[in-house]
Amino acid sequence: DAPVVVAIDGPAGSGKSSVSKAVARRLGYRYLDTGAWYRALALHTLDADVDPEDSAAVIGSLDAFGGAFTVSLDPDVTAFTLGDRDVTDEIRGPRVTAVVSAVARVPEVRAWINETFRSLIANVDRPGIVVEGRDITTVVAPDAQARILLTASEAARMARRSAEFESHPAGDVAEQLQRRDRADSRVVDFMNAADGVTTVDSTHIDFDETVDAVVRVTESLT
Ligand code: C5P
Repeated sequence: DAPVVVAIDGPAGSGKSSVSKAVARRLGYRYLDTGAWYRALALHTLDADVDPEDSAAVIGSLDAFGGAFTVSLDPDVTAFTLGDRDVTDEIRGPRVTAVVSAVARVPEVRAWINETFRSLIANVDRPGIVVEGRDITTVVAPDAQARILLTASEAARMARRSAEFESHPAGDVAEQLQRRDRADSRVVDFMNAADGVTTVDSTHIDFDETVDAVVRVTESLT
């Protein structure tokens, strides 16, 4: 049998990353966090004094970024490096989050990154891989055996994000999350399930129940 691909999309604060990672662990799969790539590219441009709004300059930095960025597909080892620097925490920070949507909306950037994702997915061994992002079910891996949209009400997503960033005022976190979802939505639709995509709504269930639900959907489709 071919390796199983589980594609998971959803908005910020839906719990996508932690749920996807837990599902990968449970199933013994690899795990690809595609948002981390956009985040690392954003950091790479900031480090190189490239304006993230300058699409041509961002496109021009792709090859250097590709040569510098390394990522682990092991769900138990979250490690991203740029050159020899560990950027695992930095790519989640506010400086990167503020500019990531600008680099992610450039079509050439998406095409380049998606090619990389497709080759990573094509080279994965059995039993499979969980791939998580915004356009995985629709663009990156529309042929995935399991395609899931992970959603939660806006209120639930904001509450979870605010709890994650205890040191920041809840209002700031909520506003930034809304702004980022609005910007990202103009590029790909991750709020509505495409044909054949199963929605898992985590508004009223806890983390473990959400992981269970995603595993059940995956097992029913594979
Ligand atoms: O999922 P995460 O919040 O880490 O994603 C960071 C950013 O990367 C998103 O706000 C979006 O701009 C971009 N992204 C994307 N397509 C993906 C994954 C992430 O455009 N598949």
